[in-house]
Amino acid sequence: MPNQKKETILVVDDSSDTRELIKRNLKSKKYTVFTASSAQNAVSILANTSIDLLITDLKMPKVDGLSLIRHVKENFKNIAIMMITGYATIPGAVQAIKAGSEEFLAKPFTDEELFTTVARILKNLKFRRRSGEKQKKLDMAGLIGESACMQSVYSKIIKSASSSATVLITGESGTGKELVARAVHYNSSRMSCAFIPVHCAGIPQELIESELFGHLKGSFTNAYETRAGFFQTADEGTIFLDEIAETPLSMQVKLLRVLQDKEIYMVGSRKSQKINTRIVAATNKVLSTAIENGTFREDLYFRLNVINIKLPPLRDRGDDIFLLINHFTEKFAKELGKPAVKFSDKALNILRNYNWPGNVRELENIINQIVVMNDSGKVDTVDLPSLLHFSAFSKNNPKKNLQEVISEHVLQVLENVAGNKSKASKILGIDRKTLRKHLEYISTKNK
Ligand SMILES: Nc1ncnc2c1ncn2[C@@H]1O[C@H](COP(=O)(O)OP(=O)(O)OP(=O)(O)O)[C@@H](O)[C@H]1O
Ligand SMILES: [Mg+2]
Repeated sequence: MPNQKKETILVVDDSSDTRELIKRNLKSKKYTVFTASSAQNAVSILANTSIDLLITDLKMPKVDGLSLIRHVKENFKNIAIMMITGYATIPGAVQAIKAGSEEFLAKPFTDEELFTTVARILKNLKFRRRSGEKQKKLDMAGLIGESACMQSVYSKIIKSASSSATVLITGESGTGKELVARAVHYNSSRMSCAFIPVHCAGIPQELIESELFGHLKGSFTNAYETRAGFFQTADEGTIFLDEIAETPLSMQVKLLRVLQDKEIYMVGSRKSQKINTRIVAATNKVLSTAIENGTFREDLYFRLNVINIKLPPLRDRGDDIFLLINHFTEKFAKELGKPAVKFSDKALNILRNYNWPGNVRELENIINQIVVMNDSGKVDTVDLPSLLHFSAFSKNNPKKNLQEVISEHVLQVLENVAGNKSKASKILGIDRKTLRKHLEYISTKNK
């Protein structure tokens, strides 16, 4: 591939001879090469150019190579570093490696030594970057899905992860809001600090304030110890306020104040504490309705909704359902120590057409059920819970009477099991005699 773009290398040396020699050599191998005669020059090139490899001299007047290496290590991810020096001493090499240099080349070196070392470092760098990308995918907290609507969720996660802005995640129940909150945290610079999920609906009203902000010893009966709240625990990290619509109005005022002032008051204390906790909130309620009903503060809504990530319901995710079925099937088969389970096309079709009111969580539960029950390694329509058959074939028929729906359903089930009456009665949850009665009814109706 003659036109393939080669890596960019910055060569830093106070000796112009060495600089030019290395530059000429590397250019002959088609690398893009920048040079700097001092660490200060190098710092400004690094700020404005995307560099893959830094090759620096150790001894330089004013700022030496070690300080430059430290600067790069602290401020740039994924720049490889190689140190060159005329003073090939072991302590020098150790220092350089400690500071973050990957390779150490002693002057004088041959062209060949230069080429092989540079090539080796760049190969390692590529490998590191690639595994970093893989890591990134994993950092989507296990979210599965390739549909366009999920792609836009991912790009929002990545964008929000590079800031500390408050995020509001909305979407129906079971659509993955908590996974998204985790993905926001674990892709952000806060990833090494705590991620604290708080289920606002689950905390008794009288305890919410102390749970969130902590309390001083003796501030109320049973406050035997001074205790930090979730906000303090999540300092420098992320607090995930789940089911935010369920927080009482009195608490909403306090949260608003936290968002405005970035400080909290422990219960029983008049002294405020500065906190640096990122807030990610989620709800499956439509907040505009809650605002209209007076149960949610509009000003808090605006403060929370700086970045909005809206999760699409499963029924809008197209073929993602097949990826999710695969994912959950493998997961549960592994957990249960069972061999892989394969779905027939017909069974997949039924799963695809079901309306999934409970979204991904419901799908996950049903796949779990199916895998637990399965012994043959194959899943056909007959193995699907009857709920799925019924909903798949009788949805959107609000004008039909019950008998018509039942008849249609009976016929569909029969068709799915290729007319096998015992399989059909098993799915329908009725005995063969009752099935026969239904069929008699159907045949008289159709006469
Ligand atoms: N895209 C997805 N890929 C893989 N698993 C998912 C996905 N979305 C949801 N899940 C799984 O579905 C279940 C429900 O997800 P989660 O708890 O994040 O939903 P939620 O939106 O917070 O639901 P609720 O509103 O009921 O709290 C979890 O077990 C989660 O792992
Ligand atoms: Mg949730």
